[in-house]
Amino acid sequence: MSGRELIAAYKIWLLFGALAEVVTGTGFGRCPAYPSLPNFDAQRMTGIWYEVERSFYLVEIAASCTRLNVTLNDRGYFQITVDSVNRWTGSQSTSYGIGIPSYNGSSVFRYKLNNRMPYLIGRLLPGAGQYNILFTDYDQFALVWSCSSVSLAHSDRIWVLGRKQEIEADVRVQIYAIMQELRLDPDRLFISKNTNCTDSLEAE
Ligand SMILES: *[C@@H]1O[C@H](CO)[C@@H](O)[C@H](O)[C@H]1NC(C)=O
Ligand SMILES: *[C@@H]1O[C@H](CO)[C@@H](O)[C@H](O)[C@H]1NC(C)=O
Ligand SMILES: *[C@@H]1O[C@H](CO)[C@@H](O)[C@H](O)[C@H]1NC(C)=O
Repeated sequence: MSGRELIAAYKIWLLFGALAEVVTGTGFGRCPAYPSLPNFDAQRMTGIWYEVERSFYLVEIAASCTRLNVTLNDRGYFQITVDSVNRWTGSQSTSYGIGIPSYNGSSVFRYKLNNRMPYLIGRLLPGAGQYNILFTDYDQFALVWSCSSVSLAHSDRIWVLGRKQEIEADVRVQIYAIMQELRLDPDRLFISKNTNCTDSLEAE
């Protein structure tokens, strides 16, 4: 290998190394603990949300046009219907889940799929776990975060939900600033695929 080739190879290695770190969101130690959003109003979280951006997650790589319909039941639990389209096969899928706040009025909740499925499998399916609505203005966007500890390490995921399928640039700047305050790297986010969504999943 010539010197130049070696440097090129090294640069590629660096690029992949840096990328892997940015992309995976893994770290040593337990999950960082974000507190519940002060004065969180669960009622105002209800309604339709679109997934606008999210961190990389292999299992969801083909999902597009992801839309959530959030309602509250009389126990104060979130009932969440998630519709998405597999952009490789075009098939639409719907999952039903329930979000149980850690206490009444908390923005931290445990999410589990509500399918008729053995508990263990339901728990292992993508989506189940501990979630935190880190920030929301209720009318435009919500920043949702989930983290799981695996022995000595943790892995977290981030979603930006919008009331519309796109978020305007000035709002996006605000969201990224909030993320930086929370020590979450906005570079980890990918724009969700919301092109060519069918009419039923399109924003009004
Ligand atoms: C959202 O869910 C509620 C309750 O199931 C339903 O009444 C409403 O029509 C749904 N909204 C949309 C846009 O699908
Ligand atoms: C939760 O708190 C709100 C306001 O403090 C109250 O109106 C509501 O009834 C409570 N819900 C439950 C399930 O305790
Ligand atoms: C959307 O669909 C149109 C017509 O089927 C196609 O020409 C276009 O390439 C699609 N766009 C994307 C981004 O998939």
